[in-house]
Amino acid sequence: MEEDRLISAQVQTGDQESETLRPLRLHEYIGQTKIKENLKIFMQAALNRAEPLDHVLLYGPPGLGKTTLANIIAAEMGVNIRTTSGPAIERPGDLAALLTALEPHDVLFIDEIHRLNRTAEEILYAAMEDACLDIIIGKGPSARSIRLSLPRFTLVGATTRAGQLTSPLRDRFGVISRLEYYETADLVEIIKRAAGILRQEITQEGAEEIARRARGTPRVANRLLKRVRDYAQVWENGVVTSALACDALTRLDVDPAGLDLMDQKTLQTIIYTFQGGPVGLETLAATIGEEAETLEDVVEPFLLQRGLLQRTSRGRMVTAEAYRHLGLSAPQNRAASHDGGLFAQE
Ligand code: ADE
Repeated sequence: MEEDRLISAQVQTGDQESETLRPLRLHEYIGQTKIKENLKIFMQAALNRAEPLDHVLLYGPPGLGKTTLANIIAAEMGVNIRTTSGPAIERPGDLAALLTALEPHDVLFIDEIHRLNRTAEEILYAAMEDACLDIIIGKGPSARSIRLSLPRFTLVGATTRAGQLTSPLRDRFGVISRLEYYETADLVEIIKRAAGILRQEITQEGAEEIARRARGTPRVANRLLKRVRDYAQVWENGVVTSALACDALTRLDVDPAGLDLMDQKTLQTIIYTFQGGPVGLETLAATIGEEAETLEDVVEPFLLQRGLLQRTSRGRMVTAEAYRHLGLSAPQNRAASHDGGLFAQE
């Protein structure tokens, strides 16, 4: 289901072209100001000392630019980057092959690092701390361990779930940065920059219209821009204006706040079938016809973040804002009945 949602933050087929939209250097990277400024200092200091940058852990929701930042770090440090992911490293040998191929100060980027298996993770400990690779040769009583030295390198790990990282691994990162959802103003700049690269004329208001619906996520913003561009080229004189973006995105079922049909169905089911909630996750999922896990991982995060949904110990509830968003009025008696004062201010 997630694969075909236009507003999904996961990488989709068709996003590859976005590679060309990715900023390559730090000064081109818009938003995430705090992380950017900190990294700039750490990289400058490491360069002045002629050392590799300390290991960096980037965490946060998908689509916010973790991979982009890893590539920028390598470019700014003037080193190569080797990219892999937790699930791609099946055997310890896979990781050993990557580590032994590194040149001094290179960046090793491991995406979805929380999915690394235990043995590979343990190999990383010595590699990160002592630039060593411990290899076991043979089996049983005659097994021996030999220690190879590696060049000093920078591990950049990325994860959507920092909580799933073991503490020995987390503790070995010198820099831990959490990427935040982007402000609309930053997304506007990202969209204007991407439009420039795509040679697509866009007005300020057109960029704002797309930005407001992009769920705080550059990957979504760029995908929406590319779809809106199609409408602009076929319908109009090729300019993305606010009215055109609004029309196109409405046709694509992305509402003014970036909710798609799945999000709306979730809120409407809670409101109409469960009187606004609370309703248990399993019951809600069965009513909508989705897996509970999909609902929890894919639909809920955005609704929670936007304050349209609440998780309570008794289940999921919509907020007054959800009623407002759907053009409904929140029932007056809810404050007194079962929402714990949620609507008391209404
Ligand atoms: N494209 C995607 N993310 C970006 C960012 N943070 N800055 C500039 N362009 C981007």
